[in-house]
Amino acid sequence: TSPKIVLGFESSCDETGVALCTTDGRILGQALYSQIAMHKDYGGVVPELASRDHIRRLIPLMNETFAQAGIGLNDVDAIAVTTGPGLPGALMAGCAFSYSMAMGLNLPVIPVHHLEGHLLSPLLSANPPAFPFTALLVSGGHSQLMGVEGLGKYKLLGETLDDAAGEAFDKTAKMIGLPYPGGPALSKLAESGNPERFKLPRPMLHSGDFMFSFSGLKTAVLTTAMKLAGVSQPAEGMAIDDTDKADLAASFQAAIVETLVKKALAACLHMDHKRLVVAGGVGANRLLREQLVKAATKRGIDVYFPELNLCTDNGAMIAFAGAMQVREHPDLLANRNYSMNTRP
Ligand code: KG4
Ligand code: ZN
Repeated sequence: TSPKIVLGFESSCDETGVALCTTDGRILGQALYSQIAMHKDYGGVVPELASRDHIRRLIPLMNETFAQAGIGLNDVDAIAVTTGPGLPGALMAGCAFSYSMAMGLNLPVIPVHHLEGHLLSPLLSANPPAFPFTALLVSGGHSQLMGVEGLGKYKLLGETLDDAAGEAFDKTAKMIGLPYPGGPALSKLAESGNPERFKLPRPMLHSGDFMFSFSGLKTAVLTTAMKLAGVSQPAEGMAIDDTDKADLAASFQAAIVETLVKKALAACLHMDHKRLVVAGGVGANRLLREQLVKAATKRGIDVYFPELNLCTDNGAMIAFAGAMQVREHPDLLANRNYSMNTRP
């Protein structure tokens, strides 16, 4: 039988993404709009503004995607949509749109877990990993280690007890006066800093499990920043000398990367996997990529990353996750249950 075509939508946070993917894993078209510029002035994502913008972008992005693919709505066999986790209002924009359209066109809806989208995104790269593999999933909302035996066969090995890795990057960046989103800004600044200048904690490095904790590291950065600025109360955008700032950024990045690398490798060895996959926004971090490859190579483990543009939120990973589900379970195409079930 010929491959089926899945139209996918992502709107869980501050990116609106649309894509078309076939059940043999080809992306036929994709369009993405990032709201970063809009949220920048507020220092973080404003949920209500995010929802409103998704409503504005969904149809133009969908039209752009179809134009790229050279096909039309009539060629679509199923609609995949992120049903969570994410900002409730933002999810609602994408879900209400997708479910209504599916109902109107008599198409099945494939609900997609946002993290499954991230988890499978490395399979879209030129050199995709085979199953099984261990996955380090590090985004703005989650930090998890997963054992992946196959599509839908995921075992949670460990996760963060408090802040997610991306959240720690963002909050630390804000503390030292860097613009939102902090991750890319902080890692750029860190390139010119001395990572050994400040001795910051590596929380739970020797806990013997696969759990993370980043809030203590964040507090240590705050205390150091206050000392450098000569203030006794924390304040946003403290006056810190540029060199000090770069050194602090580099020391923070080194601490978080060391923790992620050690635990990811330990999890991979524990699972006896030969492949380690990194996904989620923090997977775009250059030092993390370098250090992971270095440590894994020594152990005979191959590391796989999504293409850089597929690390952060996008529609392609959602359309792909939906398409893989349809391939694995063709009976999903018969599903006409339109009871929308979002997971905030
Ligand atoms: O996966 P993602 O786009 O959204 C969520 O599902 O959360 O991840 C966004 C997160 C943000 O916290 C951002 O600061 C972080 O990924 N990030 C980075 C880098 N690029 C994005 N963190 C560190 N280094 C980067 N180069
Ligand atoms: Zn994400």
